Amino acid sequence: MRGLVPLIPTRLPSAPVALADRLRAVRRRTLALCDPLTPEDMMVQSCPEASPAKWHLAHTAWFFESFVLKEFLPGYRLFDERFSWLFNSYYQSFAAFPEKRLRSSFSRPSLDEILRYRGYVDGALEELMSRELHPEAQRRVELGANHEEQHQELLLTDILNALFTNPLRPAYLAPDPGSSQATAEAETPTLRDIHFEGGICQIGSNGSGFSFDNEMQRHRVWLEPYVLASRLVTCGEYAAFIADGGYRRPELWLSAGWDAVQAHGWRAPLYWTETDGRWSIFTLRGEQPLSALKSAPVSQVSYYEADAYARWAGRRLPTEFEWESAAEDQPVFGNLLDSGRFHPVPSADLEAADRHSRLHQRRLFDFPTDPFDGPLFGDCWQWTASAYLAYPGFKPLNGSLGEYNGKFMSGQMVLRGGSCVTPVDHIRATYRNFFAPETRWQFSGIRVAS
Ligand SMILES: [Fe+2]
Repeated sequence: MRGLVPLIPTRLPSAPVALADRLRAVRRRTLALCDPLTPEDMMVQSCPEASPAKWHLAHTAWFFESFVLKEFLPGYRLFDERFSWLFNSYYQSFAAFPEKRLRSSFSRPSLDEILRYRGYVDGALEELMSRELHPEAQRRVELGANHEEQHQELLLTDILNALFTNPLRPAYLAPDPGSSQATAEAETPTLRDIHFEGGICQIGSNGSGFSFDNEMQRHRVWLEPYVLASRLVTCGEYAAFIADGGYRRPELWLSAGWDAVQAHGWRAPLYWTETDGRWSIFTLRGEQPLSALKSAPVSQVSYYEADAYARWAGRRLPTEFEWESAAEDQPVFGNLLDSGRFHPVPSADLEAADRHSRLHQRRLFDFPTDPFDGPLFGDCWQWTASAYLAYPGFKPLNGSLGEYNGKFMSGQMVLRGGSCVTPVDHIRATYRNFFAPETRWQFSGIRVAS
């Protein structure tokens, strides 16, 4: 067992009860997201970035066991000592771990045993939460809930890849007929320029509410006057880029991007397929013709494709600071996981999401948000032109958890805003997602700037 932090009987006012409720809800949702899946679906690992759904179930329990229960629940006994390394993802200083590409070979422990593992960890978490909670334990539980939400998003992006790879192209969920019709008929609003004055802006978390270590420290950044597009780039607009020879014109691409186009044979976003001159797009709700999604935001593009599209359109990608400064006063609302859509939709088609949120009594502002055409959050993570680097004064978490974010600050670009599979409780204006520039399996899209 790693070093015990002394337990100080400090109950923070009212927070633990809310935290316990949030924890239960997050844990339940992970299981609910697996409802449409068969045990066989949950074993598939169809690309190097992805993990099997079964692994996500086990690894999220492992996180609570390793970083919360072992340290903060006296007398806690591991469910199975081998799981300490078997379900470790990348924490080098914590334990050894198997090669990531081998995760689909974990036919044992069985799915039933993984579910028993989750139940065992949930029982221990209930016991922990019924006690006086050390402030550090409270922070770790909140971190564990946020970690599990990240894996909920990964579970869905990974299963989308798995189902796309299957020649039968099975759908995760049935099409939503009302929504599909509205999406097909939605008009694309004219792309407008939203002007921002720039100046000295405060960037990063101010410490109120949960944030990851990579959102700290809050600091000043100078911004020249800039323009953000009023909405995301649509599939129809991206199809025009393809039709204009976008993937055949090296002058539009960064050198590494052009190399990636050649090496991988890219000629469209990841889940686009052309048959007899007609494009279709595979979604979690099955294959749909491009004509039905022309007004929906384009998704599953790499940073290189986003950059090339912006250059073709006579624009550029925003920096993460421009995006955050614009988002600071915007409501955290949009086509996120809680809308139940599971794929990007046109901004004009968000009223259903709005109604859904009202039903769940979420705080809402007027819709659509001014000055953008629809919310700034949701649909697709938005690639920025910013490299993923430490903010001034960045301090990783103590111990093995210091490996959570900081060690990836090399060769990756920042994405902002959350996607259609990001839980609404998980995203905020200061949130920094990050992926290597060739990454395409996430719900990653484009908002141009100038
Ligand atoms: Fe993880």
